[in-house]
Parts: sequence; structure tokens; C-alpha cells
Amino acid sequence: MSDIVWHQHSIDQESRAKQKGQSPVLLWFTGLSGSGKSTLAGALERALFDAGFHTYLLDGDNVRHGLCNDLGFSASDRDENLRRVGEVAKLMVDAGLVVLSAFISPTKEERERVRALFEEGRFIEVHVSTPIEVCEARDPKGLYKKARAGEIKEFTGISAPYETPTAAELTIDTSKGDLTAQVNALLDYLTAIQVIDAAKLKAAG
Ligand code: ADX
Repeated sequence: MSDIVWHQHSIDQESRAKQKGQSPVLLWFTGLSGSGKSTLAGALERALFDAGFHTYLLDGDNVRHGLCNDLGFSASDRDENLRRVGEVAKLMVDAGLVVLSAFISPTKEERERVRALFEEGRFIEVHVSTPIEVCEARDPKGLYKKARAGEIKEFTGISAPYETPTAAELTIDTSKGDLTAQVNALLDYLTAIQVIDAAKLKAAG
């Protein structure tokens, strides 16, 4: 690494962000499988996109079809999955985008490692805290059923741990209230911390 020197290019994050009229951040949705991370992140991205913001959504299931298709669900593979995603998200935030990610990211250490890649205030942890009983009852992909039957090993919440965040910027339980109210709570937060401009959001209706 000592023979590799960082090249400082002339267009930086600030110029890219200014061109896009927004303050780039990473919204990191963490929670159990079936907790509603992807649904919530997708609905928030839709609202931001429709209001003219420049976004990208990194989704656990999708990333595992490409960038991380060589990884499984052992503790070390999850670490590597989240390391790659963190680095990709960092590039996207550097590109000036509002990035949303939806990964179980079961350990505090993994989440803190990603947070440490970002400047203060650019990493926003959103704990999707839907109780496991609700996630298991939803079982949208039939994975809890398989995990209970022993057909999937190391399944988060059943046979592998999930460490509950203790310092998330936001906590949302998708079993309470509706999706619109949850998206509005996220938009209010982003407006309050001046990631997005209230007037621009309002103008979009
Ligand atoms: S993470 O632990 O590395 O953050 P990730 O978010 O990529 O997990 O998981 C993506 C999806 O894989 C989950 O939403 C779930 O549907 C599916 N999956 C398959 N096997 C497992 C498993 N053993 N544990 C958890 N999720 C699994």
C-alpha cells in the first residue's frame, strides 16, 4: 500500500453535490429479514427521486446477485459483504448521491466499520426494528420456514445473531403505522438535518 499514492482530482464531492443541489449521505437501513428495510428504503427513494433528488438504492438481495455473488452468510462472508457495500456506498456519496442501503448488517462492529468510512453526519443509521414475530409471520420469501426446518443454516434471528442497534439516528417499526407516515418521518428528519431542501420537497408536492 505504501507504493500507492492517493490522487486528488480536481472535481471533489463538494462540487458534485453542489451541481446536484443536495447534501450527499448514506442512509443505512439495518434490521431482520422481512423487517421492511427494502420496502421502506424503496418508498423513501421514490419520494426523493420524484422530488428531483439524485439517489441510489443498494439492496442486499440485489447486491448478492452481482458484486457479492461469491459470498454466503457465515460471519466472515457477511463482514466482507458489508465491507464491499460500505466502500461502494462511500464512492457513491463521494459522487454526490443520496444513497440508501438495505442490509441486515447483524453486528454492531460491521455497522460501526461502515460508519467510520464517512465524515460525521454523512452516515445515518436507520434501525428497522420490526419484531421478529412479525417478520416471521410475514415470511415474504419463505426463508423463516426453511430456517426453522433446518434447511437454512445461520439464519439471522433464528440460528445466527442480530445485535440491536443502540445509537441509531432513527428507529422505525414497520408493524406500527403506515408506509406513508414512515416515509414522511424520514423526510422530516432529512429536512431537519438539511440533507434535503424543504422548499424543493414541498414544490414537488
Ligand atoms: S447481511 O447479513 O450480509 O447484511 P444481507 O442483507 O446481504 O445480509 O442478506 C440479503 C438477504 O439474503 C436477506 O434479506 C435474506 O432474504 C436472504 N438470506 C438468505 N440466507 C440468509 C441467512 N442465512 N441469514 C439471513 N438472510 C439470509
